[in-house]
Amino acid sequence: MSTQPVLKVNGLCKKFNSALAVDHIDLELMPGECVAILGPNGAGKTTTCELLEGLIEPDQGNIEVLGMQYRSQRRAIYAHVGVQLQETHLYKKYTVRETIELFASFYPEKSNTEQLIQDMQLQRKQHTRLEHLSGGQKQRVYLACALVHSPKVLFLDEPTTGLDPQARMHLWQSIEAQKKQNVAVILTTHYMEEADKLADRVVIMDQGKVIAAGTVRELIQNHCHARAILTFQTSRTNFQLLSEQISWLRSAQVTDGFQKIQVGVIEPSEAIQTLMQCASKNNCQIEELSLRSLTLEDVFLNLTGRSLRDD
Ligand SMILES: Nc1ncnc2c1ncn2[C@@H]1O[C@H](COP(=O)(O)OP(=O)(O)O)[C@@H](O)[C@H]1O
Ligand SMILES: [Mg+2]
Repeated sequence: MSTQPVLKVNGLCKKFNSALAVDHIDLELMPGECVAILGPNGAGKTTTCELLEGLIEPDQGNIEVLGMQYRSQRRAIYAHVGVQLQETHLYKKYTVRETIELFASFYPEKSNTEQLIQDMQLQRKQHTRLEHLSGGQKQRVYLACALVHSPKVLFLDEPTTGLDPQARMHLWQSIEAQKKQNVAVILTTHYMEEADKLADRVVIMDQGKVIAAGTVRELIQNHCHARAILTFQTSRTNFQLLSEQISWLRSAQVTDGFQKIQVGVIEPSEAIQTLMQCASKNNCQIEELSLRSLTLEDVFLNLTGRSLRDD
């Protein structure tokens, strides 16, 4: 039996005034799959989400959620869609439990509130008013509210922006638990670690367009020339000597007066061996040698010449 996509999007466009905020986007999402939309501020992530959630109308394009379209089956779609908006304002005087029960009362299908409070690790805070929660705890309440009707598709717009690393990891666990229950997730983020950790596939957006898509591995392979970045220190004279003998060193970036020499390499262990052998043969001292894997940040930089983050 073939599994049908929970979401199918073709040629989606949205203009604000004359500017295209979303420019011909295609997307497909399977049950239990998490797709991260990664991009800098203003890339069009929130607009894309709001289109997919049926909150705003596209100028062009087609959206199918579980085989249905908003124009004819909006209510039926909403029964299966969970939404966490980028900005949410709930009644701050309500407790965690009251808030979740209020949201549950909107739906005919009663969900298991106890289980949800447990899943979101909110047991100890269930009688606390929202105004007294930390940012991370609030985000978990918002997520619980998006989950009260056991949706099949979940939209999370920058769920961890502004959270400290521990609260972020906590929320990641809750999202992973949903994936395990076969919930399909669309997540927007400008944190590449988040996309890397949670997503099966990543869609990179910039200026309304999808500029690349695939697994993290595919994106790095297809859009970066190197596999890793080698960093070390040596003197100017040593560097000149080594570059004469190792051709790939000639493409290195040198900063802070040879305190930081950075070079992309394709075979990391071979490259380190070559460098160290050559250094030893020529009596060149190498210091602070380190190696790091390439990330989605490098992919974005290679594609656009800009950094993902401006904060
Ligand atoms: N309601 C709106 N009216 C006019 N322009 C908008 C509106 N919403 C978003 N935009 C513009 O559309 C572009 C994409 O915005 P947005 O989808 O919020 O990006 P992101 O979520 O990736 O930061 C931005 O240039 C933004 O200024
Ligand atoms: Mg946004």
